[in-house]
Amino acid sequence: MKYMSRMLRIYLKIIRYKGVIDINSKEFYTVRGYHLLEQNKRLITPAMEDYLEMIYRCGLQEEYIRINQLAQLLNVRASSASKMVQKLGNLGLMKYEKYGVLVLSEEGKEIGKFLLERHNIIERFLRLLGCSEDNILKQTELIEHNLHNETIHRLEMLISYFTNNPDVLEQFEYFVKKY
Ligand code: FE2
Repeated sequence: MKYMSRMLRIYLKIIRYKGVIDINSKEFYTVRGYHLLEQNKRLITPAMEDYLEMIYRCGLQEEYIRINQLAQLLNVRASSASKMVQKLGNLGLMKYEKYGVLVLSEEGKEIGKFLLERHNIIERFLRLLGCSEDNILKQTELIEHNLHNETIHRLEMLISYFTNNPDVLEQFEYFVKKY
């Protein structure tokens, strides 16, 4: 158990170091991305959110992503991905360039960044709770579309609290073990 808690602390430190989210920052994550999403709330469906999140995630590693690659990653048919990409294009969130190359617009990027951060916060929270790795991703994908922004913000603070107070985390883990 000690080993596990040490691993968790190391993991949290890595995340902090990578700067996916500056958990010491008092400022809430990607505020603009959140506002843009709120403005388009009725137009952006959970499926569209998955697309934007995935395209943004890929964009962190590659310059662009092709439609076939995206369809594969999201486990959908290329024809469905094309339709969705067209809808996102109509909302001004992305451009569909030649040879199936997809590029997010500035607004699309802001929203994508927010969605990825939201995903990461929930994923880290579930890991903090001690949920099994098999469940974490599946649960995150289900939860992320339905939590209110305030809740995400609270989760972010809770993660930050535990990260900055490893002794409390250890106490919690001890409590769980004895429960
Ligand atoms: Fe996600």
